[in-house]
Amino acid sequence: MTGLMDAALETRGLSKVYRRLRRIRALEPLDLAVAPGTVFGLLGANGAGKSTLVKTVLGICRATTGHALIFGKDSRDPAARREVGYLPEGTHFARYLSGRDVLWYFGRLAGLTGTRLREQVDAKLRLVGMADWADKKVSQYSKGMRQRIGLAQAMLGDPRLIILDEPTDGVDPEGRHHIRDVIIGLGKQGVTLFLNSHMLSEVESVCHEIAIMYQGRVLKRGRVQDIRNEMSMRDGKYQLVFRTGPLPSQLPPLLAGLQREDHGFRIAVADREEIPRLIDALRDSGVAIYGVEQYHASLEEAFLRVMDDGNHHGVGGTRQ
Ligand SMILES: Nc1ncnc2c1ncn2[C@@H]1O[C@H](COP(=O)(O)OP(=O)(O)OP(=O)(O)O)[C@@H](O)[C@H]1O
Ligand SMILES: [Mg+2]
Repeated sequence: MTGLMDAALETRGLSKVYRRLRRIRALEPLDLAVAPGTVFGLLGANGAGKSTLVKTVLGICRATTGHALIFGKDSRDPAARREVGYLPEGTHFARYLSGRDVLWYFGRLAGLTGTRLREQVDAKLRLVGMADWADKKVSQYSKGMRQRIGLAQAMLGDPRLIILDEPTDGVDPEGRHHIRDVIIGLGKQGVTLFLNSHMLSEVESVCHEIAIMYQGRVLKRGRVQDIRNEMSMRDGKYQLVFRTGPLPSQLPPLLAGLQREDHGFRIAVADREEIPRLIDALRDSGVAIYGVEQYHASLEEAFLRVMDDGNHHGVGGTRQ
């Protein structure tokens, strides 16, 4: 059934076990829904299963269990996949073609013809900043340029859902900036974007929502800010960062449990009344206090903590 409220992308118990050389449980059964208009980032270390998830959704590799829906239609239905633009990981285009030829070819595959095809190819070349290079051969392109052509290809025909697997892989900072702007622009137009990446800062700057994947499972999902806030706390307590002079080897009991950092320490506090007590205890110990601030985990720290928690809870122990 399709309707206005359908998720742009939804997986229902979708899983993948590769069986070629040895059994690899690359994707544990996953239920995930991405609302239309969301810029969604899937994060995870190498081998976490990000590309597998995307390829299984698109039917490029066959699901072991479950299925996926694209705007409410089963993704095994070619009509459903017509709504999707896709930039695969590590794209390779025929080196003897020009960038324009490549887009022409993929545009035809996407069902574009005539004036619309020409307009689309020109528009996307401009959008990714490749208009001046369009008639040079792919063999003369840098990796970043090939990646931009790949991005242009994924946008042909203005699909409502665009899936980008590591869109900035191998792209220099300027190129990354450009690609980021293109993604933000698409997001503003209401296109749903699904982005695989391990570039945390990039994901943080463009994505409304993220999921963190680890050994075939999504361990965490939500808004970047919410995940960062949650990970800023420890055992339900806020954390403070004290910038101080050297600490004595014998610490007063109140300071037990602090975590030493460069130029100070971090400590969890149950309520704000603890702050003056901590300051008094430090002063009594002769410690100079240069600053106190609330701790905010960066996405990188949050990511590492999610991984760490995953490790400690033995996720993936039965993976192979
Ligand atoms: N075609 C395949 N045959 C067998 N195993 C595979 C295949 N493709 C991926 N795998 C395995 O599945 C797991 C997940 O791989 P996947 O490529 O989905 O990870 P990823 O999160 O995209 O990693 P990366 O960040 O390196 O792109 C890995 O253990 C990988 O070795
Ligand atoms: Mg991958």
